[in-house]
Amino acid sequence: MKVEPLMVEAWGLEIGSRGELSVGGCSTVTLAKIYGTPLHVVNENGLTDTAQRFQRAFKNCYPGRFTVHYAFKCNSVPGVARILMKSGLKAEVMSEFELKLALHIGFRGEEIIINGPYKPEILHRLCLENHVRFIIIDSISELKALQAVCESIDREAHVLLRLNPDFIPRKMNKGTATGSRKGCAFGLDTKGGEVEWVLERLPDFDRIRFDGFQFHVGTGIRYPRDYYRVLKQLKPVVDRTRKMGHDIRIFDVGGGFASITTREMTTWEMLLYQGWERLPSGISSRDRFSFRDFAEAVTDGLYYLFSADDLPELILEPGRCIASPNQLLLLTVIGTKERSGIRKWLLTDGGIGTVATPTYYEYHEVYVCNDMYRPLTEKVTIIGPVCFAGDTIYRNKRMPPVNPGEVIAIMDSGAYFTSWESSFGFPRPAIAAVKNGEHRLLRRRESFSDMVARDVTEQ
Ligand SMILES: Cc1ncc(COP(=O)(O)O)c(C=O)c1O
Repeated sequence: MKVEPLMVEAWGLEIGSRGELSVGGCSTVTLAKIYGTPLHVVNENGLTDTAQRFQRAFKNCYPGRFTVHYAFKCNSVPGVARILMKSGLKAEVMSEFELKLALHIGFRGEEIIINGPYKPEILHRLCLENHVRFIIIDSISELKALQAVCESIDREAHVLLRLNPDFIPRKMNKGTATGSRKGCAFGLDTKGGEVEWVLERLPDFDRIRFDGFQFHVGTGIRYPRDYYRVLKQLKPVVDRTRKMGHDIRIFDVGGGFASITTREMTTWEMLLYQGWERLPSGISSRDRFSFRDFAEAVTDGLYYLFSADDLPELILEPGRCIASPNQLLLLTVIGTKERSGIRKWLLTDGGIGTVATPTYYEYHEVYVCNDMYRPLTEKVTIIGPVCFAGDTIYRNKRMPPVNPGEVIAIMDSGAYFTSWESSFGFPRPAIAAVKNGEHRLLRRRESFSDMVARDVTEQ
């Protein structure tokens, strides 16, 4: 098998003389032996480097102030978030758990912004008490609730209004487009008068300080110019806001920047795959785009809305493009099964029911760790250990022949894998970090005691 130079470079992979896959100077086969599988392996230098390249791209393009808030929901493993904090990123959270975690890791309140459609009173209160920089308002009812909390504890809140721009990025699976007016409840309706309703009544919300707008139109955006297009589409809202005498100091364009090494299936590909088991082909080398392309598109969009001497502070909330390529998931092939004329299965110790949920809707490369050059001669269905027919990783995936006992790597497990994982009959996996030939544990495998810790077992 030929491993595309683009991929090897993008992941920071190393392939030994006998074809063995290494990351961060550590052999994946050895890591699987030491820690067992399923095992996530985090490439520490890769994470730092990706976070810095992202920041550098915006520094080189955008002349105004900007801040990058890492989206905790993407991968909230404390060891991962700590590496990103050291790389200069701030935090974006969406729940009480994530807020407490960010504070616990060492982010100051002023370095945190909070999103999400569900912020109960306790969460608003925690945000205010910890001086969270911006509370991003998702709805009119949230605004009213926040005003009430502010009054009750005599505080002011700095807010951004989340806009629903009614925009679906190109080729995005419609079910995951978070800026669609019809398909998604997030944000204030830019076409139904909600934004104007809020702006007109801001004086009545005397504890609320309006600082600007936010949107997030989905994850895995592969066409950087979509950021320019969505910003351009918001011109009427921006103009009306200014006309009403409000200053827009901040513009937050959310996250969504794709990772080059994996991709979500489009709506059509999902239909073909789930209905007819036609797995889309891999990552195309035509799909080359860089952080610079995203930075240019966002900058052009903000220049369309603002004059050069009036540019707002830009906020970015990336998750996927930073975390995704810098983690991989190791699984052991426990056995194979073949029904002649039907299909061949590879049975592994992890599937979508436990550790690999995103493979349901995303395409990921899968490699055989001890032999990266073995030719792809088979089509197999890779399944997990849970007793339901849907616990597959991929159907009809082109693979080399794999023997029981060998370890495979699901690439790009850094985004939304650990967030989605479940202990459906099996303990959740360990996570190790690698750097310059050394490895360390970030999270141990779940034990039986962990799995029953919340249960009242003796009555
Ligand atoms: C509000 C918000 N910001 C940021 C993100 C991060 O998106 P991504 O991981 O695609 O960069 C998400 C993801 O769903 C989100 O909902």
